[in-house]
Amino acid sequence: MRAGRPQDYAVGDVKIWTSGRFYMARGPSGFVALYRQCPHLRCTIPPPSDGIFECKCHLSRFGLTGELLRGPAQRPMDRFPIRLVNGELVVTTGEASVIRRTEYSDADAFDPGPVA
Ligand code: FES
Repeated sequence: MRAGRPQDYAVGDVKIWTSGRFYMARGPSGFVALYRQCPHLRCTIPPPSDGIFECKCHLSRFGLTGELLRGPAQRPMDRFPIRLVNGELVVTTGEASVIRRTEYSDADAFDPGPVA
């Protein structure tokens, strides 16, 4: 699924891609396509407020690129693979493509190279 050009995002931006069930976040290390399903008990995590995602089911909190800030979740938000095609971010969505994260790493972020 196409998710716009890298230069359409400033660092700190999050865009909602409802049909793909992900949020595209641009953090300091690059882009992360965050699965909206909570890693605790699978509620849908609503859009962030002030760069913080909070699941309304049991109030787990996650940072801009899905890092765990507060439980009961025990791990970061999951993500989808990203690649650059003709200058656009393209996300492979669907349950079979979810990358389950047990730990958070800045290396999870996709770096598209220099962007305008
Ligand atoms: S399902 Fe999200 S905190 Fe429990």
